[in-house]
Amino acid sequence: MSEPFVQIRNLVKTFNTPAGPLNVLRGIDLNINRGDFIALVGPSGSGKTTFLNMVTGIDAPTDGAIQVDSTDVVKTPQHQLTRWRGRNIGIVFQFFQLLPTLTVFQNVKMPMDFCNVYEPKERKDRAMTLLDRLGIADQAYKTPDMLSGGQQQRVAIARALANDPPMIIGDEPTGNLDRMSAANVFSIFHEMRDQGRTVLVVTHDRELVHDVPQIMILTDGLIEATTFEAAAKRRSQELQSVKRKTQERRAIKTESPERDAAQSSQHLS
Ligand SMILES: Nc1ncnc2c1ncn2[C@@H]1O[C@H](COP(=O)(O)OP(=O)(O)OP(=O)(O)O)[C@@H](O)[C@H]1O
Ligand SMILES: [Mg+2]
Repeated sequence: MSEPFVQIRNLVKTFNTPAGPLNVLRGIDLNINRGDFIALVGPSGSGKTTFLNMVTGIDAPTDGAIQVDSTDVVKTPQHQLTRWRGRNIGIVFQFFQLLPTLTVFQNVKMPMDFCNVYEPKERKDRAMTLLDRLGIADQAYKTPDMLSGGQQQRVAIARALANDPPMIIGDEPTGNLDRMSAANVFSIFHEMRDQGRTVLVVTHDRELVHDVPQIMILTDGLIEATTFEAAAKRRSQELQSVKRKTQERRAIKTESPERDAAQSSQHLS
């Protein structure tokens, strides 16, 4: 069998904060095979974005090893990593992160210019083909602010695919989209996986997670495989706990004026 596409060993990330060290990732071991489609779930603040930043080389781990294909992500110098990322990982963010002063077409062409992957004369055709595949070729000469959220995310996906990367990573890519646009984005991810790409997506969306072949959960600094049912149960427990805390806070607020009044009358007497 061929080697896993992504190999992660003892991945540790500790942030130094004013309150002391914060151990976010505590020794993750994980293999991801070529062609896997993984949804990564986990409570807010559990370290999902931190984890993705390690895999993409956007941030460096405190300890551990990360290899993506034949690249040692931890040991490669930062200036080489930027170009490596541009060629090998298409990243789709929650807030699209398109360049506002460039047109849609220029946004999609930019990674090709930056990484010099295609011949300059091919780039224009390729950008238009990608926009066409995502159903937004007619928006090519607008700036991103003139597009709906769903259209902007499709531009971001076209940009992520510009250099034909073997891996796609999404960090809550549907967090700002309506149901229809969100389903659309996930159906594009499924298509990418069918074409042999490796897809790793952080999402809180229960409905969309349902159809993803593998679900992993990040809790207490570690990642483990889970099932849709277990992830859904955990998520509803988290929601219940948030609701309970909100109710408790409300109760304290409504109680406190009386308590304040009682205290001040005691004070006056
Ligand atoms: N640069 C940093 N310095 C200090 N602490 C950080 C830094 N980046 C993230 N953290 C902390 O690390 C923890 C994990 O953050 P992270 O953004 O990875 O969580 P997340 O799982 O992506 O959450 P969400 O679902 O809300 O996006 C949080 O407690 C966060 O405050
Ligand atoms: Mg996050």
